[in-house]
Amino acid sequence: MKRVITYGTFDVLHYGHINLLKRARALGDYLIVVLSSDEFNKVKNKTSYYTYEQRKIILEACRYVDLVIPEYDWEQKVDDVQKYQADIFVMGDDWKGQFDFLKEYCEVVYLPRTPDVCSTKTKKYLKQKDS
Ligand code: CTP
Repeated sequence: MKRVITYGTFDVLHYGHINLLKRARALGDYLIVVLSSDEFNKVKNKTSYYTYEQRKIILEACRYVDLVIPEYDWEQKVDDVQKYQADIFVMGDDWKGQFDFLKEYCEVVYLPRTPDVCSTKTKKYLKQKDS
């Protein structure tokens, strides 16, 4: 069984996320999503609209996702890859090259990002509409 691992905040889930998850899952048989915890979002200066638990519920309902676990810091990737025996690490190509140090432990794949959609844009739009 080929295991794939990917990381992100996945706030206000959109079709760009689904495209990424679908292609990541198609690279193997089991997809693990390591989801930014609310604490880690603070470290990254990100505020999510949905809490970790809410984002987890949404991701768990997605047919391409087999397991959701929390991300607490930048340093845990090597441990995760080893603990969950991931064969492939996947990220969108906005992160191209940044996780190449994992090539020592597994295959590293950067997938093309879906154009013209991101959580930040959706949240900005919703904020404007509300005000
Ligand atoms: N992603 C993608 N295409 C998009 C948006 C995101 O392929 N249009 C991918 C990212 O490259 C990453 C994963 O989805 O591998 C999770 O990204 P995340 O940062 O949570 O999503 P964004 O919509 O980019 O969020 P934000 O606007 O907060 O940066």
